[in-house]
Amino acid sequence: MRNFLVFTAIILATIGCEKSIDITELNVLPLPQSMELVNSVFTFDGNTGLIINANEEDTKILAEYLAASKFNLKTEEKKKNLKLVLDENINSPEGYVISVNKRGINISAKSGAGLFYGVQTLLQLADEENKIPCGVITDEPQFAYRGLMIDVSRHFFDKEFIKKQIDAIAHFKMNRLHLHLTDAAGWRIEIKRYPRLTQFAAWRSPAIWQDWWFGSREYVNEGSDGAYGGYFTQDDIRELVKYAQERYITIIPEIEMPAHSEEVLTAYPELSCTHEPYKQADFCVGNEKTFEFLQNVLDEVIELFPSEYIHIGGDEAGKASWHHCPLCQKRMKEEGLKDVNELQSYLIQRIEKYLNSKGRQIIGWDEILEGGLAPNATVMSWRGTEGGIAAAASGHKAIMTPGQYCYLDSYQDAPTMMPMAFGPYMPLHKVYSYNPREGLTEEQAALIHGIQGNIWAEYVPTGEMLEFLVYPRILAIAEIGWSNPAKRDYANFKSRAIEAVNGLRKKGYAAFDLENEHGERKEAQQENNHLAKGTKVIYATEAPYHNNYKANGDDTLTDGIHGGWTYTDKKWQGFIKNGVDITIDLGEEKEITSVAADFMQMCIPDVWMPAEVIIATSIDNENFTELARISHDVVRDEGLSFKNFGWYGEECVKTRYIRYTAKCGPQRGWLFTDEIVVK
Ligand code: ACM
Repeated sequence: MRNFLVFTAIILATIGCEKSIDITELNVLPLPQSMELVNSVFTFDGNTGLIINANEEDTKILAEYLAASKFNLKTEEKKKNLKLVLDENINSPEGYVISVNKRGINISAKSGAGLFYGVQTLLQLADEENKIPCGVITDEPQFAYRGLMIDVSRHFFDKEFIKKQIDAIAHFKMNRLHLHLTDAAGWRIEIKRYPRLTQFAAWRSPAIWQDWWFGSREYVNEGSDGAYGGYFTQDDIRELVKYAQERYITIIPEIEMPAHSEEVLTAYPELSCTHEPYKQADFCVGNEKTFEFLQNVLDEVIELFPSEYIHIGGDEAGKASWHHCPLCQKRMKEEGLKDVNELQSYLIQRIEKYLNSKGRQIIGWDEILEGGLAPNATVMSWRGTEGGIAAAASGHKAIMTPGQYCYLDSYQDAPTMMPMAFGPYMPLHKVYSYNPREGLTEEQAALIHGIQGNIWAEYVPTGEMLEFLVYPRILAIAEIGWSNPAKRDYANFKSRAIEAVNGLRKKGYAAFDLENEHGERKEAQQENNHLAKGTKVIYATEAPYHNNYKANGDDTLTDGIHGGWTYTDKKWQGFIKNGVDITIDLGEEKEITSVAADFMQMCIPDVWMPAEVIIATSIDNENFTELARISHDVVRDEGLSFKNFGWYGEECVKTRYIRYTAKCGPQRGWLFTDEIVVK
């Protein structure tokens, strides 16, 4: 709260003795740079007119927007007015200044976008009776790029749904919508020159991605029985681009290359190394036809999207076929490329050159760093923050979208109580804790162009589910992108986010009910002072914990700390191959009545329950007496579950050593446990 004391202390001298307002109680999100408000108000009513002093295009956009807004204004001068004025003297390209007194409101900004953001602030400030507190608000964003990515390939979301999301994110002053238009699960943009992309590669059966991906993975013809999918026609795209422009949002198209392209390489198999449909994910980089195809597609894409940036994917190429493909090998030899990473770079750099020649710039996922970064590329850092930092260190722009903070397809609340999602538990406060400039030099920080939230759609079959995952977490991204980090305060943000969720729900968005959040796993919320806490754990040599999931090392299983909803939270210890086989030395003989540990199961990343647990005790660490042998039928399921495996005695047992063994089931995979609790 400390940051807000500054605000609450401010009283506008110019407005005399009127009382200052506690702006922490105002629900403006993202939080403006400075708000100096008093209790006196301006009211939007039938006597309010609208005057816009801007260029023709912005005037038209803003007039239409305000006429349709709850202020219901017409462009005409009245007794009191909302005046929007372009002002060259304002420094920030998207900043604005609002001055409100009882007789009128002035918004000045350098650009139409700035005026639009001033209007958003007014819309948020207005109460039920459209009253606005008097005072001055001065505001500007931290980052030029504030984005949301929607994956429309894994499940398709139509034009009207995308417009609805544009409305929402614009209200929170976001300015980029990145559409992941192509991927194995379906091609989603009409390309006139390659009709099979939308007549065939845009359709599949069954509809639910995981049924399809873990099943046939086949495409079907448009209009055939049970065909699921869809695409944006070129007219749809023009409509979307215009709709977004009228809300000062740029749509960035992503055309994946060289990987994630199974759908293209099945429709046009001659573009893969083996020419076999259904066998390849990566384009053949040795074949000139690949470049002909990509350039033809990009020609149509850039005709439709005025965005300076075109996203060319670049992530997760397997590159396997390139090692054996004569054309790829020939290309490597001719171009002096020493490995397949450099072959990928060859493709990215050639495409960059092509797009640069058309006046466009490329963005790629952080794998484009491998094998040499294209000279003008911007890097989208998703595998953590390192890619973005490396890009900035080499003088390139970076957009930060690290999975651990920005992947909105992960669980927003207790995974055991949420519909199936993907990835770990990533509550709102975790997203909000991210600072894209942390740990960077001033020079590097200046190259961090912005932040983006990504909603991948493998486990997002419906629009409701998408909205449930996106809102309110995208609001945290919006605030990180816009507001001053020194003024961030989670408790205050959360109260504003709850209000924003209420507003979104009233408008028909299926936002997550933040007010009734369950939160972190109950066991992880406090230390467990059990009998074995702080005692020594001896790991059997053939069953060590894995170095990637060592948590607190040898102390993990008796440190009194339980893991949360996520096995990557450094509180769960991971074992692979030979399961768990540990012996606890209590240091002296003690009377015990129970020995138990929790395990978790999450089949997609190969984390399983044990098939058998054996608990035994010993006085001398040589002769053990078995206390319990628990068998468990390990069955694949969806989502995340937890289970306690323990011995709960009816009478005390005296012991110094306790051996706890957990064996893997037929699926093998990982076992994760967090604490051996002895009572
Ligand atoms: C990605 O998540 N593969 C960019």
